[in-house]
Amino acid sequence: MKLTVIGGGSTYTPELVDGFARLRDTLPVEEVVLMDPAQDRLELVGGLARRIFARQDHTGRITTTSNLDEAVDGADAVLLQLRVGGQAARLQDETWPLECGCVGQETTGAGGLAKALRTVPVVLDIADRVRRTNPRAWIIDFTNPVGIVTRALLQAGHKAVGLCNVAIGLQRKFAALLSAAPSDIHLDHVGLNHLTWETAVRLGGPEGEDVLPKLLGEHGERIAADLRLPRPLLDTLGVVPSYYLRYYYAHDEVVRELRTKPSRAAEVAAMESELLALYADPALHEKPELLGKRGGAFYSEAAVDLAAALLGGGGTPYQAVNTYNRGTLPFLPDDAVIEVQAAVGAQGATPLPVHPVDPLYAGLMAGVTAYEHLALEAALHGGRERVFRALLSHPLIGQYAYAETLTDRLIAHNREHLAWA
Ligand code: G6P
Ligand code: MN
Repeated sequence: MKLTVIGGGSTYTPELVDGFARLRDTLPVEEVVLMDPAQDRLELVGGLARRIFARQDHTGRITTTSNLDEAVDGADAVLLQLRVGGQAARLQDETWPLECGCVGQETTGAGGLAKALRTVPVVLDIADRVRRTNPRAWIIDFTNPVGIVTRALLQAGHKAVGLCNVAIGLQRKFAALLSAAPSDIHLDHVGLNHLTWETAVRLGGPEGEDVLPKLLGEHGERIAADLRLPRPLLDTLGVVPSYYLRYYYAHDEVVRELRTKPSRAAEVAAMESELLALYADPALHEKPELLGKRGGAFYSEAAVDLAAALLGGGGTPYQAVNTYNRGTLPFLPDDAVIEVQAAVGAQGATPLPVHPVDPLYAGLMAGVTAYEHLALEAALHGGRERVFRALLSHPLIGQYAYAETLTDRLIAHNREHLAWA
């Protein structure tokens, strides 16, 4: 089995490679190709990746290349984890929306739209070349904004599934709180990427007993504190929102906070320099602890599980993934991309049926779905008008004066990445 990682020079790669090594029984990889245009990073990250495999007696090969066609030739799956413009572009996304009183975040709100506009054309170009070289390969997209990027890939007819670690992170957290094995915890995970709610926490599987009321009863304070949301809000919702919902439920509070503290992009950039310096040390043979401070906890577990299921080798039977709605959430269009539990196999992902969704959060899902549709139109076809329409439709923006200003700023800050601007 051969797996190719596009954006393989990312500082996240050792996390992934460590997962390939630990979980080799689930996913027996013979070759991992790390592809990245940045040669220097590729050398550092590739070196550590080989040392991780060697230390864990993994016999698989790790190769590095900056040539895309070479990288995907013969690959069974291609994992996308690239970031157009790097942390510098992310820093912009987190900054200019704040100047207009709107949340500055890499995937939510106006910053997320900027990321989508930069990313979708690059990803589609890569996917076209994957298909030309190797039409059998599955594309696993971890590149944000995952919902919009996955929709772009599916709409263009690619064999793609979108991946995020929010669900697996909550599954692990709830399992620990309930003193249960993660594999015994099944979440009813419903929504769009970075806009999800856990509507049930079941023991044993999709038909199992729902212990969410018990979980909230016994650990509600802790869960609310981790989400940085008030406990009574969780009681009113009766479900557990993902931490990305804080950008909606506490938008103005978040804006005030973000204005006074260093941006996440700056923190991550500092961590990346430190990580790269660590990776350069030939004595390092494992992923460093510092990597645990990034948001990608359990990314490797989720990626291994998904690849294993898609390649027909195993993996857990139901996984939270991004795929076409196709009637699963009846209030959304069939071609919306949703993030729900799905049965995953060699044929792809088929969402499990979802219990009726409370209007309390169904409305937000519908609003953001409409935004994602318009965002993709803007990413595919460009133009100031399309950017404005996407921003105006976003539930966190909505007012024309904000949308006008944000449109101008988005374009001004991203000109070098937008072919049409
Ligand atoms: C979580 C999200 C990812 C996101 C990451 C950011 O893992 O699911 O989509 O990219 O957090 O983490 P960072 O360490 O870059 O802030
Ligand atoms: Mn994510």
